[in-house]
Amino acid sequence: MALTGFVLVLSFLFTFSVFSQTVISYDRPPARGTISLMNDQDSISPQQVHISVVGQDKMRITWITEDETPATVDYGTTQGSNEFSATGTTSSYRYLVYKSGQIHDVVIGPLKPNTVYFYRCGSDSQRQFSFKTPPAGFPIKFAVVGDLGQTEWTNSTLQHIAASNYDMLLLPGDLSYADLIQPRWDSFGRIVEPLASQRPWMVTQGNHEIEKIPLLHSDSFTSYNARWRMPFEESGSDSNLYYSFEVAGVHVIMLGSYTDFESDSAQYMWLQADLAKIDRNRTPWIVVLIHAPWYNSNTAHQGEYESEDMKKVMEELLYGARVDIVFAGHVHAYERFTNVYDGKVDGCGPVHITIGDGGNREGLASKYIDPKPEISLFREASFGHGQFEVVNASHATWEWHRNDDDQSIMADTVWLKSHSSNPACKM
Ligand SMILES: [Fe+2]
Repeated sequence: MALTGFVLVLSFLFTFSVFSQTVISYDRPPARGTISLMNDQDSISPQQVHISVVGQDKMRITWITEDETPATVDYGTTQGSNEFSATGTTSSYRYLVYKSGQIHDVVIGPLKPNTVYFYRCGSDSQRQFSFKTPPAGFPIKFAVVGDLGQTEWTNSTLQHIAASNYDMLLLPGDLSYADLIQPRWDSFGRIVEPLASQRPWMVTQGNHEIEKIPLLHSDSFTSYNARWRMPFEESGSDSNLYYSFEVAGVHVIMLGSYTDFESDSAQYMWLQADLAKIDRNRTPWIVVLIHAPWYNSNTAHQGEYESEDMKKVMEELLYGARVDIVFAGHVHAYERFTNVYDGKVDGCGPVHITIGDGGNREGLASKYIDPKPEISLFREASFGHGQFEVVNASHATWEWHRNDDDQSIMADTVWLKSHSSNPACKM
């Protein structure tokens, strides 16, 4: 009874802290059931393995063990190879009564581009993993999916992404939907491992990563920062909540919708400096990820501070730098806007895409504002994922794949042209 009461209080506090800024309510249709993947490894075997790029030629390997093991990775380009070895660090965290496993973090490299590496983690020689490094130049294919969660729909989405032959995954926030229940982070790590151990998964945070509980847990992003460390120092950022990196001619900026973004904030100043450093000869494309969309014609999540005020403060910076695309999540549906700036069609503004339809347990946001705004070109409330393939310095394709009765159906596609190749958009 005491436990039930405690869970109820937690649920209330969480609901209040996360959704207090939702202005318009809406009914989400029922989602498929939540899945939970238990640990079937022994206590020193690596689990929840995922990788992320660090600089041009290194990879961070992150995994968890129940018991202490060395933070070492053996790797090479042939099966069973011990050609190279690297050592990193181990950490853990506490959240209320939960204590995490041993979270290991090892950066390996230098690595060759577009090359398959085999690797083993810690002292377990049984589980061998492999990944492919991204290409050094075009073409490069990104899978893009937000608000992923861990349901039967998530599984469907992941199967389609796995079959897409992608080079790197970009996730604009809301990963596990653990929502304070920390073992769900472990389950999520196991569910995504088959994909996230094979290709770099580059993520930014959403509101479900905050996990701050008034009076009980005063820190934000405790689990997210411990488990999903991204290469922020390498881009001059002092926070795991915003960073940038370059891959194959694309400059990718991950912004934090739920950390300070006002014009006197560290994030704003970092963004200004990061945009100023971009060399369009080296990276003709600029892609930005946020969680709360700046453009949205769904009735869900209208009028939120993280959408409206962040747009007010930062849109001019992105427009001035000729950012090509802004991907967002948060709204559990798909929507593609035209090139836009300050609410109007503008050929030199970014294309805004909401891709918050990964498959989480809250279901879809199926109500739209009528009539459809002129700047919104395609909108649909279905689960799915996106594929962004940058073909060369000037052209890329965007595809949205809907999970149609568990089949991956390409429902929307468009050719995009980079602003750097458009003389009319020269700065
Ligand atoms: Fe969200």
